[in-house]
Amino acid sequence: MTTRGKNTFYIHTFGCQMNQADSAIITALLQQAGYTLAESEESAGIILLNTCAVRENAVDRIEHYLQRIQGMKKRDKTLTIGLAGCIPQFQREETLTLSPAIDFLAGPDTYRTLPALIEQVRTGGNIASLEFNSAETYEGVDPVRQGVISALVPVMRGCNNMCAYCVVPFTRGRERSQPFSAVMGEVKQLVASGYREITLIGQNVNSYHDPEQGTHFAALLDAVSREAPEARIRFTTSHPKDISESLLRTIADRPNICHHIHLPVQSGSTNMLGRMNRGHTIEEYREKIAMIRSIIPGVALSTDIIAGFCGEQEEDHQASLKLLSEVRFDLAYMFFYSTRPGTLAARTLVDDVPETVKKRRLQEIIDLQNSISAELYQDAIGSVVEVLAETESKRSAGQLMGRTASNRAVVFDREGYQPGDLVRVLITAATSATLTGQPE
Ligand code: 5AD
Ligand code: SF4
Repeated sequence: MTTRGKNTFYIHTFGCQMNQADSAIITALLQQAGYTLAESEESAGIILLNTCAVRENAVDRIEHYLQRIQGMKKRDKTLTIGLAGCIPQFQREETLTLSPAIDFLAGPDTYRTLPALIEQVRTGGNIASLEFNSAETYEGVDPVRQGVISALVPVMRGCNNMCAYCVVPFTRGRERSQPFSAVMGEVKQLVASGYREITLIGQNVNSYHDPEQGTHFAALLDAVSREAPEARIRFTTSHPKDISESLLRTIADRPNICHHIHLPVQSGSTNMLGRMNRGHTIEEYREKIAMIRSIIPGVALSTDIIAGFCGEQEEDHQASLKLLSEVRFDLAYMFFYSTRPGTLAARTLVDDVPETVKKRRLQEIIDLQNSISAELYQDAIGSVVEVLAETESKRSAGQLMGRTASNRAVVFDREGYQPGDLVRVLITAATSATLTGQPE
């Protein structure tokens, strides 16, 4: 058995990009306090799970994982286990009952207390640190990122929308933005370190509002793209009601901002959008899509969609299929609805679509979207695309994997290129999720 270094830690990250960015912040905070990153879970004295609560199956995955960790802790009682992120913030102290192996809990706003928490835990007792702090943006923390090519930069945290299905307002609290000067400082550092891609992230980036000067997101994006002219600039996630013409003009005008917008629709039916409290109709969504396409011709669009939300009728489902057929998204993240306790829907609506119906509708959505993605990807055969190489391909060291500006995954023959290179690739084959080709 490998010995575990008492002051070494390993973080396992579940969920969204915000959680990935938070793990980089946690790493920085623990390193500052004298802890070091362990090479593997097996050699770590502290294991942290940075968790996601967004859907029931995300929670199931973590429970499954906890069972495994419980076994590790039985074999080595000195191991310290912490749960961070959205599950403890959402389920509060009750989270401790998920597994006897859990020593401490920390919510998204309390990571600065982690070193003190670990100290306290080691002198006895289980501890929870779950206060909300709507002023916390982790300004001044220099995240310790895993890769050297792509960097996530959180520009705002939390969410003030109250989508009925969504747990995020309850796990991440009120919206707050990182000062413009802090974002720019971080971007300068990323440029100096040679990062090739910068993604500005937030639950709702269009609500970005600099606390000092009041700068809005379009101006921030413009400034970031000028500060990092050699890097690809991306952003996510946008709420349809907040997509502005000035943002679209910025994307169209700046050559290094990727022409890709992730715009979750959630349902194709105005009736369901109303129940979901999305704040717009499906006609308004279509108008936004038309505006996006007229200002940024050739833009790639992706979306999120939920099947079987409370009260969804067959005609609502058909409206979702119709929307997918009309818009022809490059990519969609597709889910069936699961109730999250405490949300608006859990309190005011009935989860009345039978599970078999939810799953059947989801399958229809997946089948349709896959065929659309496959057609769009087939159309790319014979074209030349610019790919930012990210890693070796999983299948072969002789191939690299990267992405186009429109966020399509491309696997291509290596021919001496390295991760981090921008490569012009001739596309020779396609599936519904990946393009394949050779450098031009
Ligand atoms: N059930 C199913 N999907 C959900 N999402 C959020 N909450 C739920 C839920 N309770 C989906 C939405 C969101 C994405 C991150 O997860 O589509 O945009
Ligand atoms: Fe999951 Fe939402 Fe938390 Fe991200 S913010 S980890 S998606 S619950």
